[in-house]
Amino acid sequence: MDTDKLTKIVSMCRRRGFIFGGSEIYGGLSSVWDYGPFGAKIKKRIKDLWWDHYVEKRDDIVGLDSSIIMHEDVFKASGHLAGFTDSLVDCPKCKKRSRVDMLEKEDTTHYICECKNVIDITVNKPRKFNLMFKTNVSATEENPVYAYLRPETAQGIFVNFANVLNTVHKKLPLGIAQIGKSFRNEVTTGSFIFRMKEFEQMEIEYFVHPNDADKMYEYWVKERYSFYTDKIGLKKENLRLRPHTADELAHYARGCTDVEYMFPFGWSELEGIANRTDFDLKQHSEVSRKDLSCFSSAENKKFIPYVIEPSAGVDRTFFAIICDAYDEETVNDRTRVVLRLKPYFAPYRAAVFPLLKKNDELVNIAKNLFYDIRNKMPATYEDTAGIGKLYRRQDEIGTPFCITIDGDSLKDQKVTIRDRDTMLQERVSIDQVVVYIEQKSI
Ligand code: GAP
Repeated sequence: MDTDKLTKIVSMCRRRGFIFGGSEIYGGLSSVWDYGPFGAKIKKRIKDLWWDHYVEKRDDIVGLDSSIIMHEDVFKASGHLAGFTDSLVDCPKCKKRSRVDMLEKEDTTHYICECKNVIDITVNKPRKFNLMFKTNVSATEENPVYAYLRPETAQGIFVNFANVLNTVHKKLPLGIAQIGKSFRNEVTTGSFIFRMKEFEQMEIEYFVHPNDADKMYEYWVKERYSFYTDKIGLKKENLRLRPHTADELAHYARGCTDVEYMFPFGWSELEGIANRTDFDLKQHSEVSRKDLSCFSSAENKKFIPYVIEPSAGVDRTFFAIICDAYDEETVNDRTRVVLRLKPYFAPYRAAVFPLLKKNDELVNIAKNLFYDIRNKMPATYEDTAGIGKLYRRQDEIGTPFCITIDGDSLKDQKVTIRDRDTMLQERVSIDQVVVYIEQKSI
């Protein structure tokens, strides 16, 4: 575990308005986080990129936005009410409750708590804890009607499978994609936004004929890996694919591969790509008594489609982007923290600073230039501190270009553009600034 890097990233995220603790002014809630102004911008860009790539640019995938609160029977059918549990054990020494599968193992019956105490699970027996959030959707407390917050967006897709199929008039293979919040009452803490109680997923349920399932599973594993390298731009050395072993597979899955990222606490799951077979549609068909089959004209018979599911986490993608981009270097005996974000993800593409904020003519030029840039891309205008501090702030939030307007700008109609990564400065004509930034923002 690189505790030092994790601490620095958490502190930078807090300091610069990427992420705040949930309900912080009331003491906070464990494993609940809020995205601040700059975090919210990056998160939206991640979702936009995914949606554009899979929903807008493909003919074989359509989008959906289903509700978070779902009928109890959905989760009876899916198996979540019975089986979506963690095995938890209480440490007799420090009293901390932990997930058994997260503890270091001494042997089959002895586990080591964070406090280093050895827990004998034949004495301190683990208990099953369901991760689902239950809520009452009736208007009275006396006659409650229970519903649940979805633990994965996938179930909203399965229960709408027939609705979608009947309205879009498309044939298989057909993907239904959805971005949205999911909720799990996670007990593990301390991994920042890696494991949250409320988080966001980007899921595709890609429905295929059973004969095509293995081929499409292989396709989606490759496709999703290259999305992280080519579209998100994560470093290849920080990414790997890890196929699940047979004993790790969920009860419904015939195959599953995780895309893992080297987080400060080691290789951990960024996304899972699973072959969920026909388990979910069959279950929902049985419990709801609705026909969720398709017709194969080649075989002249009905079949329940298999589903390949690339299931990504928005928050973990965000976390990986920040970890990949975070850098420190020594400049003039001082530490410079710089977030080397791809320009697409940077909260601002450019920041405009007037060097003499009392000079009306100069401020006018700076403001007009700022409005021109902001018409084309996210930009900010800053005059609330000295130039050194302004550069430092923008470096930490990853702004690729800082533009200063100085006394000479009045004479030569040029400004200075500083590159975030190299810190090199170039004089550029005011009327060329937008083009310059666009060309350099690849
Ligand atoms: N529909 C399949 C499914 O939900 P999962 O592996 O449990 O599978 C998929 O979750 C992805 O959702 C994970 O790879 C991760 O990116 C994200 N995710 C799951 N639980 C999370 C949590 N507690 N906090 C943040 N992200 C989470």
